[in-house]
Amino acid sequence: KVDACIFDLDGVIVETSDAHFKAWQRLAKSLGISFGEEFNEQLKGVSRRKSIEKILALDDRELPEEEIQQLMDKKNGWYQDAIAELTPDDILEGVPSFIESLQGMNIPLGIGSSSKNAPYIIDYLQLNDTFEVIIDGTKVENTKPDPEVFLKGVKAMNADPSKTIVFEDAVSGVEAANNGGFMSVGVGSEEYLGDADLVVPNFIGLTPKELFEKLSDE
Ligand code: BG6
Ligand code: MG
Repeated sequence: KVDACIFDLDGVIVETSDAHFKAWQRLAKSLGISFGEEFNEQLKGVSRRKSIEKILALDDRELPEEEIQQLMDKKNGWYQDAIAELTPDDILEGVPSFIESLQGMNIPLGIGSSSKNAPYIIDYLQLNDTFEVIIDGTKVENTKPDPEVFLKGVKAMNADPSKTIVFEDAVSGVEAANNGGFMSVGVGSEEYLGDADLVVPNFIGLTPKELFEKLSDE
């Protein structure tokens, strides 16, 4: 039986991964560091702070704290300009009907995101009334793969991790779900998300019933 569902936001509900990627690449380039899509998979799901640390580590670069703060602010400025264009039309295909079906089954829904921009994105997408519980990057100390963000979510929903499904597009997020004892569904490519209990390419045409059956077969 499924008690609750927790959705990651970036890359699951809305495609913001490219905006993060472009902003980080632009920042890295200004530092003379370059990276591609494969490395970018490691930046998905982890906090802004952890991301810049990973980028600087690519070049064994150490910078004073003040400079690191300035760089993070710069990246976030570019990223915020990009997401300001989001509207409810940007909710990924298949997500609205999947969510409506869950609501029809009275299953409580939550968001578990590493992003401090999650509240803005949820506003732009007009999803404030859809999720009972929203845990974002402003509410946690430890970034994914630590399960803190999801554990705070289930606690607020009075649910049990083993009966809660986490939907994630990031390697770090699938690990976080697994570390917390959740059922994990990877949304995206089997190539990266193979550690999830189940991987689906996206939500198009997917029904909760079909998904629950597949999960219980695992
Ligand atoms: C995650 C994204 O949701 O949030 C990461 O997948 C991002 O790419 C992280 O770095 C932190 O986001 P923000 O908006 O607080 O910089
Ligand atoms: Mg994500």
